[in-house]
Amino acid sequence: MTGVHTTGPEAGVERRRDGEPLLEVEAVGMSFGGVRALKDVSFKVGEGSITGLIGSNGAGKSTLFNCISGIYRPDTGGIRFAGRDILGARVSARSGLGISRTFQNVALFEHLNVLDNVLVGGHARGRVGFLRAGFRLPGSILEERRMRREALEILADLGLESVAYDEVAALPYGTRKQVELARALMGRPRLLMLDEPAAGLPHGEVTSLAGEIRRINEEFGITVILVEHHMGMVMSVCHQVVVLDHGRILAVGTPREVQEDRGVVEAYLGG
Ligand SMILES: Nc1ncnc2c1ncn2[C@@H]1O[C@H](COP(=O)(O)OP(=O)(O)OP(=O)(O)O)[C@@H](O)[C@H]1O
Ligand SMILES: [Mg+2]
Repeated sequence: MTGVHTTGPEAGVERRRDGEPLLEVEAVGMSFGGVRALKDVSFKVGEGSITGLIGSNGAGKSTLFNCISGIYRPDTGGIRFAGRDILGARVSARSGLGISRTFQNVALFEHLNVLDNVLVGGHARGRVGFLRAGFRLPGSILEERRMRREALEILADLGLESVAYDEVAALPYGTRKQVELARALMGRPRLLMLDEPAAGLPHGEVTSLAGEIRRINEEFGITVILVEHHMGMVMSVCHQVVVLDHGRILAVGTPREVQEDRGVVEAYLGG
């Protein structure tokens, strides 16, 4: 591991490239009818870091992901990415800025093959407009070839080359989760958000997933936010951990600080 571990509330915020945290969540609040899913949630994510987002079922983790990726617009508060206010930006604009994610319930085109699913992730940054693509002008054909080559490289990198032309619906759950990760990487993200990537995976696959996340972070410098209930994985992979409890921030710190926090142990980590 690189020497990224620090202590204090700014843990993980020091490797920024442009003098500011990559992501700033400021006093975000969101309700669904009478349910206050998020209350006054603030934290920062440093560029190049891995942040774990943990908390009991219903704590608001996925809702927060939806606010950051643009699926939900929070009722109150602000979200800044790379120094700009993205609160009003659509999902597509946010992926264009470099925010990619996977979903808690795998969301793929089940009847397309793996390669085509991964290619979908490249759309956010495709430079060829639909007019050119529609007329099949040479630029778009070259672009398409380049994208396919790149998608195949990502698949090979994740050990998925042998299933590139298989229909997604026929694949085991763990492999489909890997395909979602490949699709997210195809967007060449600056921030990769993973919602429970280890859920439902057998133990051996959790270990290799942890290694993959670390490698994605270290080799490509991609900032990661990881929602996980798998504490072994969170504590071994993350530089910073944010704990949510009933929609509120309970603690922010290094894995060690959070594990030693009495409130966190009582509310979430247990005996
Ligand atoms: N679209 C929605 N409509 C109504 N209530 C919602 C909606 N999405 C989330 N909620 C509620 O908001 C709260 C937070 O839910 P959320 O899915 O964000 O939790 P979570 O931390 O991701 O939980 P889990 O670990 O089970 O995935 C819960 O009370 C949930 O029932
Ligand atoms: Mg969730």
